[in-house]
Amino acid sequence: MRPIVIAANWKMNTTPADAGELARTIASRTRQAGVTRVICPPYVSLAAVRDALAGEEVGVGAQNVHHELAGAYTGEVSVPMLAGLATWVILGHSERRAYFAETDALIGKKLDRAVAGGLRPILCVGEVLAEREAGREAQVVDAQLRGALEGRDPATLAAAGLVIAYEPVWAIGTGKNARGADAQAMADAVRASLRALGWGSHADATPVLYGGSVTSANIEEFLAEPGVDGALIGGASLKPDEMAGIAARAGITARARGLAS
Ligand code: 13P
Repeated sequence: MRPIVIAANWKMNTTPADAGELARTIASRTRQAGVTRVICPPYVSLAAVRDALAGEEVGVGAQNVHHELAGAYTGEVSVPMLAGLATWVILGHSERRAYFAETDALIGKKLDRAVAGGLRPILCVGEVLAEREAGREAQVVDAQLRGALEGRDPATLAAAGLVIAYEPVWAIGTGKNARGADAQAMADAVRASLRALGWGSHADATPVLYGGSVTSANIEEFLAEPGVDGALIGGASLKPDEMAGIAARAGITARARGLAS
């Protein structure tokens, strides 16, 4: 059975002075049986968020990680540096791809390093508007998955709890969200790509999240789709009221899917 995952990507927002309080507030308002919660603050706020969440069942994640263990990479953070600070990591976010020139091959290396270091990856994929308008969204996502996953052992990645986040770039931070049916179609496409990569039964067991202008007002549309297992949330994840509403709806889905005991 796939978990329901509600992951907050705070992006380049909050400071170590305010992140702990925000995390604590969100944690206290999002407790729902059967819902896995993750908060991904900026690196410098990881310690504050970890400390604030002591005793709460909320995962802490990094938003990126370098593919080497150590060395002359000014400004970068490696997997061993995250030990004790994070147990999850977002990889291949479209903003990293667009602004920091991350390629599928590089994201694959990061994935290897993250998994070897015991981090649970959330691998982001998604098409830009022109690609969707050309009807190429499934092809684009297939190429991203192939580029990052090909040649890697599905059982190892599945055991690491790999989560795929489908985030259409045209829906990120734009207030324009995909329709539930689009998210379902792309979750199916993701699992078809995984099967084509030899994932077999691991394909159906892999959680697929939707991301892109998710709010408490539209989360229902996505969670109503049987192939969608949660959300990766940007702007709304900084607002406790929004997160409470999103988690409450996720709790309903968890109960409906028999995940809440
Ligand atoms: P928004 O929810 O702000 O559109 O961001 C989505 C996202 O990129 C999460 O990783």
